[in-house]
Amino acid sequence: MRMLLHFLSVSLGVLTILVLVQAQDQSGFISLDCGLPEHLSYSEVKTGINYISDAKFIDTDTDTSKSIRHTKEMSYIEQQLEYVRSFPNGVKNCYRINVSNGTKYLIRASFYYGNYDNLNDPPIFDLHFGANLWDTVKCSNNVSFFQFIEIIYTPSHDYIQPCLVNTGQGTPFISAIELRPLNDIAYDTKSPKSVLSLVERWELGSGSNSGSYRYKDDVYDRMWFSSIRSDWRRLNTSVNNDDLQQNHYKLPAIVMSTAVTPVNGSAAIQFSWSADDVNNQYYLYTHFGEVEKLAANETRAFNINVNGGLFYAPVIPLYRKAMTIFSNRPLTGATVYQVSLSKTKNSTLPPILNAIEIYKLKDFSQSETQQDDVDSIINIKNVYGVTRNWQGDPCAPVNYVWEGLNCSVDGNNISRITSLDLSSSGLIGQIASSISKLTMLQYLDLSNNGLNGSLPDFLIQLHSLKVLNVRKNKLTGSVPRELIERSKTGSLSLSVDDNPGLCTTKSCGKKSLFVPLIASFSALIIVILFISLGFRIFRRHKAAVTSTNSKQRGSLISKQQAFSYTSIINITDNFKTIIGEGGFGKVYLGTLQNQTQVAVKRLSLSSMQGYKEFQSEAQLLMIVHHRNLVSLVGYCDEDEVKALIYEYMVNGNLHQHLSVENTNILKWNERLIIAVDAAHDIREQETQIKEMMCTVLA
Ligand SMILES: *[C@@H]1O[C@H](CO)[C@@H](O)[C@H](O)[C@H]1NC(C)=O
Ligand SMILES: *[C@@H]1O[C@H](CO)[C@@H](O)[C@H](O)[C@H]1NC(C)=O
Repeated sequence: MRMLLHFLSVSLGVLTILVLVQAQDQSGFISLDCGLPEHLSYSEVKTGINYISDAKFIDTDTDTSKSIRHTKEMSYIEQQLEYVRSFPNGVKNCYRINVSNGTKYLIRASFYYGNYDNLNDPPIFDLHFGANLWDTVKCSNNVSFFQFIEIIYTPSHDYIQPCLVNTGQGTPFISAIELRPLNDIAYDTKSPKSVLSLVERWELGSGSNSGSYRYKDDVYDRMWFSSIRSDWRRLNTSVNNDDLQQNHYKLPAIVMSTAVTPVNGSAAIQFSWSADDVNNQYYLYTHFGEVEKLAANETRAFNINVNGGLFYAPVIPLYRKAMTIFSNRPLTGATVYQVSLSKTKNSTLPPILNAIEIYKLKDFSQSETQQDDVDSIINIKNVYGVTRNWQGDPCAPVNYVWEGLNCSVDGNNISRITSLDLSSSGLIGQIASSISKLTMLQYLDLSNNGLNGSLPDFLIQLHSLKVLNVRKNKLTGSVPRELIERSKTGSLSLSVDDNPGLCTTKSCGKKSLFVPLIASFSALIIVILFISLGFRIFRRHKAAVTSTNSKQRGSLISKQQAFSYTSIINITDNFKTIIGEGGFGKVYLGTLQNQTQVAVKRLSLSSMQGYKEFQSEAQLLMIVHHRNLVSLVGYCDEDEVKALIYEYMVNGNLHQHLSVENTNILKWNERLIIAVDAAHDIREQETQIKEMMCTVLA
């Protein structure tokens, strides 16, 4: 049901007087002139309503088109209808307007086509309200007609999202959006999932030709249109607003000061409306106020019937006061609703009627997306500057789910985001933490983007996650251990390849340091004997081996540190002197700034499979110190180079000490003592490390 309403010219002089008489404030009003250039605002000359541009309330590129100005008709039109904003791009374009959560609002959208696009083809399009279909807007080409749709609604969020949806029948446009806070008690349907949608609103008996009243006559800015019929007679009095204060509907004095009564004193006042569907549910609000000073022997009492059934009896209007009669249950089950006001037997006077409103109940029960999910996905949109047409409710209406999302409705009839596909979307930066707040997410595809940083631990929070694809990014660090475990048990399909800096094994995360370490202790004796670079010789040889380094050793250990690739080049003089070749690469001679000689063991690029071994060794030597184990000075762990920096053993490496050609060859008993001694010391350290780990876990 839509209203096509005729503009009637209003004498400015009359309205100016009304403004002076009934000045009301506009607190809580939101008045958007759609299409008005962003910097402009004004006070509308007829109503005094302050309008601002809608530009800040849309987050999409739009063509702002000025409506064609029919100079001849302009005096008919209030200024907010002068511009339109049209939406030639995208299927769904939304406004996001902050409101006061829990406040009941009258919300009105106005459309004045006026052939603004010179196509002489008024469009038809849908208007959504968040997840729900608000109405279908069918425009008229008549230049003196405009259309508005109006609902009474209590938002459950601190914003509303009216959306214009292109249904293939012309470019959607809009002229104005107006929100007016209402008294919470008025217009109460007790159906929170529904809204009242205006069908008709009339004030009866007005003697003026102005045709309509709104703000400032009406503090709620309802639009009252005047009606009179030949079988009705006008009655009038003067009413002031103070007399009407007790009525929650805050009816305008100008509306309540006039009424109609049947010309034939014994006839009824009758009116009707028709329904396009018998299941429609209607709320009828009738407003009464006695406009005649009754004599002592006069009475006015009448009954209201709807389709022959009693609606209310008896109505006895109070002089210059307002009374609103409505039912707590909607009228339904008919295609025509015939309302009849007839005087009671004892009444000496015929019925009167001052004003009526008819609303249709509109179902707004379409499940909206859970607020946390909405907040998260909007944050993700903002963080990555997603340029897709992500507007309105992410999951609803079902035909307009945001591209890349899948949703499902939970047991409480709330939509949840279950799938997010942002692959090949040019994302850069780190993985946004808001993703972890999409707690029902089962499928997450961030592949083929430029994401860097680590694969964050917060992804573990996504307990429903079944598919995680981050391949082809620039992620570094290590994959959280729990994700690897879930992938191993098959509960998660994990794709992390094509991230050159990302360690994909369990042993690389800092938190998992001790587990692989302890596992490797059992093999440590072998490591000691075959460690490729060198070792500290048995006590008898110690003096000779470390004559210059014995004092520095402690300081070297404490200086274990990360070296950059550049400093490795400086230390080794650009890998000038090769002093050996170990299990996973060449060993170079180097000199630290303090002139200490070091051996730099570089992981060859061709043996990236040795990276795990490299890491284990580095971690082990960081923690374990033994006089027969070479000391680690530092390491380099950059993309280009992985290297370990050891104390330099001037007496040669283990191989040389075990080789028969060496004059200083270790005797077998010496070798045994070294091995047993090292193993003993390391067992002690292992115990210490286990204790440390227990402390950490505790
Ligand atoms: C009622 O209307 C008539 C004519 O429009 C006017 O002259 C008269 O003053 C009005 N009465 C009151 C009480 O306002
Ligand atoms: C006035 O209304 C009554 C009741 O509807 C009807 O019986 C009567 O004929 C009507 N009088 C005139 C003159 O129309």
